[in-house]
Amino acid sequence: MENQKILILNFGGQYDQLIARRVRECNVYCEVRPYTMTIGEIQEFNPIGIIFTGGPDSVYKEDSYRPAMGIFELGIPILGICYGCQLLAHYLGGSVTAAKEENVREYGKTLTFYDTSSLLFDGLAEEGISWMSHGDYMEKVPEGFQLTAHSERCPNVAICHEERKLYGVQFHPEVNHTENGIAMIHNFLYKICGAAGDWTMEDYMYRCIEEIRSKVGSGQVLLALSGGVDSSVCAALFAEAVGSKLTCVFVDHGLLRKREGDEVEDAFKKWDINLIRINAEKRFLGKLAGITDPEEKRKIIGEEFIRVFEEEGKKIGKTDFLAQGTIYPDVIESGKGNAETIKSHHNVGGLPDFVDFKEIIEPLRLLFKDEVRELGRQLGLPEYMVMRQPFPGPGLAIRVIGEITEEKLDILREADCIFREEIAKAKLDTQMNQYFAVLTNMKSVGVMGDGRTYDWAVALRSVTTEDFMTADWSRIPYDVLDRISSRIVNEVSHVNRVLYDITSKPPSTVEFE
Ligand code: XMP
Repeated sequence: MENQKILILNFGGQYDQLIARRVRECNVYCEVRPYTMTIGEIQEFNPIGIIFTGGPDSVYKEDSYRPAMGIFELGIPILGICYGCQLLAHYLGGSVTAAKEENVREYGKTLTFYDTSSLLFDGLAEEGISWMSHGDYMEKVPEGFQLTAHSERCPNVAICHEERKLYGVQFHPEVNHTENGIAMIHNFLYKICGAAGDWTMEDYMYRCIEEIRSKVGSGQVLLALSGGVDSSVCAALFAEAVGSKLTCVFVDHGLLRKREGDEVEDAFKKWDINLIRINAEKRFLGKLAGITDPEEKRKIIGEEFIRVFEEEGKKIGKTDFLAQGTIYPDVIESGKGNAETIKSHHNVGGLPDFVDFKEIIEPLRLLFKDEVRELGRQLGLPEYMVMRQPFPGPGLAIRVIGEITEEKLDILREADCIFREEIAKAKLDTQMNQYFAVLTNMKSVGVMGDGRTYDWAVALRSVTTEDFMTADWSRIPYDVLDRISSRIVNEVSHVNRVLYDITSKPPSTVEFE
């Protein structure tokens, strides 16, 4: 049976994915689509409710983004957020103008007062902070609508027409700064749209397995396994669905973290699949010898990856299906024509171009990262695998500054492992988005016992971030840093100094190279 669906019409706002994640967190399935969707397409999609996102436009401008006219007459509940709210006001007989006075233009945290007799705010506190970001002002409320929220400075913050099930809010309920924001979305879904809460990962998993089984039939499936969350969950899904018809190619380029290659193998032992691990450390290190430029390292590794796959692909011959772990944020971004993201999700080395196959299957293409992790758990993948932090394709090659040698890689692996162990012990691992050790190419003087040492300096890097475009350095408590530092200098030979990176991005980057 099909899930109930919410349609999120995107008007160019920056929070479209966040809204979608919130809806799914409430156990209701949703998809983000462009605002240009026609009435026919909307009817075919058959949503139980529609959410208009915010957007940078002004509704009163001649060529501003507008939904298909007639959308308000479909009888489907609508929640308009920010620009989406102004669309309701503008097209249903109210008016929206540029806010000239300070009292109606609002940005940031704003104390807001709600009419809790409106279903949208039913059962919630009568006042709370909301997150505003609007330069336009709903001057006249459309006929038949009532005002359901105001702030200290702005009288028109939320409107509704309960009978027609049309709701608009000037603020952003989807961001964490809005108190009870999720509860408002929950009210919209359950009390207004009549959602049943039928979106669960367990159901999705069973349905997905069935679909994969019937599609693959007696065919063969090939998957490039990197050990990252997406490709691992994708592999587990196919393993569960078609078992021995799945071949996974896992290239160990020798630039992985301590025990990582074995962990990947171990995680898949419980399935009867054909896992080919190619130990190509010598080959990669050979190519990287003497190379110090970061971009050149990346290029060499990328090319070598393709070469290894190409050789393996030739051995395997023609396959029926290629499985890929593309996830929903990549799909949404690709739809916007964002070239950066398209490039990065082909990170595995452009495999499709080098393997002979009939069709690609991407079973995760409608899932967000946290849903992919949950699916992994349902499939029985170990926690270390589903919660794995992002790890760059070129691996430790861009964390050994300058020339890469086996000895340097071993030093880095030990130091990095201690760092990760201590962070996990201090239960800080869920608070930081990426943390790792780097082997600087600096040697410095130290003293050990009675002797002078001249050894490597290890740098620790840890960041908190939402999107990796900007990041802040993590405030790791001093006592934890102290333990990490003393363990590293005591347990890892040839390291006599530990540094902690306290720069944010920008101006730094997350990685050192
Ligand atoms: P930067 O260093 O650019 O890192 O601030 C942002 C995020 O991207 C990851 N990263 C990479 N991932 N191949 C990858 O697959 C790369 O060459 C690469 N360089 C950086 C980095 O780990 C961080 O999560």
